[in-house]
Amino acid sequence: MTAPDLPADLKAALDARLQGLSRTDAAGRAALISKTYRDGGGSGAIRSEVDALAYAMARMPATYAAVTASLNAVRAIRPDFAPKSLLDVGAGPGTASWAAAAAFASLQRFGLLDANDALRALALDLARNSPRLRDIRYRHREARAALADAEPADLVVASYMIGEVGATERSTLAELMWAKTRDTLLIVEPGTPAGYGRIIAAREQLIGTGAHIAAPCPHDGKCPLHAPDWCHFTQRLPRSRAHKQIKEAELPFEDEKFSYVALTRAPVSRRPARVLAQPVVTKIEVTAKLCTADGLVIARVPRRAKADYARARRWRWGDAVMAED
Ligand SMILES: C[S@@+](CC[C@H](N)C(=O)[O-])C[C@H]1O[C@@H](n2cnc3c(N)ncnc32)[C@H](O)[C@@H]1O
Repeated sequence: MTAPDLPADLKAALDARLQGLSRTDAAGRAALISKTYRDGGGSGAIRSEVDALAYAMARMPATYAAVTASLNAVRAIRPDFAPKSLLDVGAGPGTASWAAAAAFASLQRFGLLDANDALRALALDLARNSPRLRDIRYRHREARAALADAEPADLVVASYMIGEVGATERSTLAELMWAKTRDTLLIVEPGTPAGYGRIIAAREQLIGTGAHIAAPCPHDGKCPLHAPDWCHFTQRLPRSRAHKQIKEAELPFEDEKFSYVALTRAPVSRRPARVLAQPVVTKIEVTAKLCTADGLVIARVPRRAKADYARARRWRWGDAVMAED
C-alpha cells in the first residue's frame, strides 16, 4: 500500500518553488486562505503564485494523505484494479493525480481540470520533472463545461472539490463525473458532518443510477449511521519543517480527517466489514464498531477466543476486515 507522505520528487519540486519566497509571507497567505475555508469560502481566495504555493504547502500533504488512504482502501477491496487513465476534477495543484500515480503503476494518461489558473500553473510546474506526470493534460475551465467534453477515464477523482459548489451544481457534477467514469469514481471530502453529508448525497444519487460501492461501505444500502454520528476516517501524516513553518505548527505530524466513497460500474465480489472507529483493546476483550453488510455492529472479541482476539487487536480505524482477518 502507498505511504501517506508526499513522494520525494513532489517534495523536491515544492521545496524548489519555496526558494526565495518569504516563509512569513507564505504563512500569512496560508492563514488567510485557511480562514476563508473556515468561513465557508472556497479556493476563490487563491489568486497569485504565492497564494497557490501557500495553499499547496499548507494543504497538499493532508489532501494527498486522504486520497492515498482512500485509494489504498479501493486497492484492498479490488487488488486487480489497474486503471490506465485518470480524470482529476477540481485538480488544484494536482494532489489526487500524484496520489493516483503512486497508487497505480498502470496509469498512463492523466487528465486534470480546474477553474483556478494559479493552481493550474503550479500543478504544471510541480509535474514538469516527474517521469510519470510531466505529460499531464490540464484544462483550465469550469468543471461542468470541461466535463461535458472530457475524455472518459477508468478512474475519476474529485478530491476536496464538491464542497466548493452549491447543492444543485454538485448533483449535476456528480452525474457528469459518473458519465465519464469507465470503472471507478472516487469522491473525497473533509471528514466533517457536512463533508460526510455531501458524500452520502452523491452516494445515494449515483446508486440510484446503477452505481455500486467498493469502499468504504460493505453494501449498497442506506447508510446505517444517524446524526450526530457520521462516517469518517483519519490519516496521520508527517509534517516537514516547511509545512510546520507555513502552518505555524509545533507538532511533527497532523491527523487529517476525511470522508470518501468509491463507486464502481460493476458490483465488487469482496464485501468486508469496515472498522468505523479506533477499536478499544482491553485485557478482557476488543470492542470494535463495524459497518457490515447487515448494518452497524459493535463487535466484542473476548480474550479467551485467542486467535480471534489476536486478529482483532490488529484492527485499525478504516480497515476492511473479514471474519477470518
Ligand atoms: C480545496 S481545492 C482541492 C484541490 C485538489 N483536488 C486537492 O485535493 O488538493 C478545490 C479545487 O476545486 C476547484 N473548483 C471548485 N469549483 C470548481 C468548478 N466549478 N470548476 C472547476 N474547478 C473547481 C478549485 O479551483 C480548487 O482547485
